[in-house]
Amino acid sequence: MPLVPMKQVLDEAERGGYGVGAFNVNNMEQLQAIMRAAQEADSPVIVQASRGALRYTNLVYLRQLMQAAVEDNPEIKIVMHLDHGNDLEVVQQAIDLGFTSVMIDGSLEPDGKTPRGFESNVEITRRAVEIAHPYGVTVEGELGTLGGIEEHVQASRVILTDPEEAVQFVQQTGVDALAVAIGTSHGAYKFQVTPTLAIDRVEKIHALAPDVRLVMHGSSSVPQELIADINRYGGKMPNAMGVPVEAIQDGIRRGIRKINVDTDTRLAATATIRKIFHEDPSVFDPREYLGPARDAIYRVVKARMESFGSAGHNADYAPMTLEDAKRAYAR
Ligand code: G3H
Ligand code: 13P
Ligand code: ZN
Repeated sequence: MPLVPMKQVLDEAERGGYGVGAFNVNNMEQLQAIMRAAQEADSPVIVQASRGALRYTNLVYLRQLMQAAVEDNPEIKIVMHLDHGNDLEVVQQAIDLGFTSVMIDGSLEPDGKTPRGFESNVEITRRAVEIAHPYGVTVEGELGTLGGIEEHVQASRVILTDPEEAVQFVQQTGVDALAVAIGTSHGAYKFQVTPTLAIDRVEKIHALAPDVRLVMHGSSSVPQELIADINRYGGKMPNAMGVPVEAIQDGIRRGIRKINVDTDTRLAATATIRKIFHEDPSVFDPREYLGPARDAIYRVVKARMESFGSAGHNADYAPMTLEDAKRAYAR
C-alpha cells in the first residue's frame, strides 16, 4: 500500500475515538522498530522526520528508508510527515520527497525561539496549505507555544492556545490538523514538580472547531525505569519527567488525535546501549547494541499504540491515495 494522507488516518481516528502516535525517525533501526510495532499492534502509524532528521539522513537515505518501510509492510497504513517545518522551502522539499503530510510550525519566528504574531502565523500557514493541498498532502499548523505551565507563570514566553483564536486560525488557513499548546514541552524535562496540563482547552477547541484534528506535541512520558537505567549505567539525567500516559488518554477522550513521541524512543535506545556497554565492555559490534536498542524502541512504540487506542484499527478502512485527497480538496 502506498503512503496514505494523514488527514484520512486522523479523520478515522476521530470517528473511532482513538489517538494515533507520531514517532520520529532518523535511522533504520528506529523505523524498523516502529514498523514492527505497527505490524504486531495492527495499527496505522505516523512516521515523522524533523528538519534535523532530513539533514542527518541526507534526504536520499530517508526516501529509500520510507520506501523500504512501505515495501516491507504492504498492509499497514503509514503516513510520512514533516515534523516542525519552519519555512515553505522545507515544506516543498518534503512534498518532493514523497511525504503525505507536512507541519508548518508558524508559532515561532525562524529563529525557533521568538513567538510569532497571529497574523504572520496565519500567513505562512495559509501559504503552506496553498502549496500542499494541490498535491493531496495534509497540513498541520501550530498555534500557541510549547512549554510548561509553571514556566508560563515565570517567563511569560509560553502561550497556551486560545480556543477562540484557534477557530479563527483554522478558518483563515484551511489546516487539516492543529498542534495545540496546553503545557507540554519537548524533551525529557517537561515539569519540575507535578505534571500540569491545560487539558480543558482541548475539549473547548474540539467543540468550537470539530473539523480540525488536534495534535499534542511533547507527549513523551519519560518512563522512570528508563531514566533509572540511564543513571545507573553512567548517564546523567536527574529530575527527568514526562507526561503521564493517563493524561494523554484524557486528552484523547477530549479530542486529541495525533500524539508526538520522540524522547521516549531516544531514552529506550540510550538506556539499552548504556546497560550493554556497562555489562560487557568488550562489545564493539554495533549490531550487538543497536539490535537490542531497536527491540527497546519497539516495546515503547507498541505500548503507546495500545494505550492511545490505535492498536487493532489498521484494517478498519480502505486507504486513500494522494490523488483521492487531491480531488477531495479540489471539491
Ligand atoms: O520536535 C522535536 C522532535 O523531537 C525532533 O527533534 O529536531 O532534534 O530532530 P530534532
Ligand atoms: P517529545 O520530546 O515529548 O517526545 O515530543 C516530540 C515532539 O513533539 C515532536 O514534534
Ligand atoms: Zn513537536
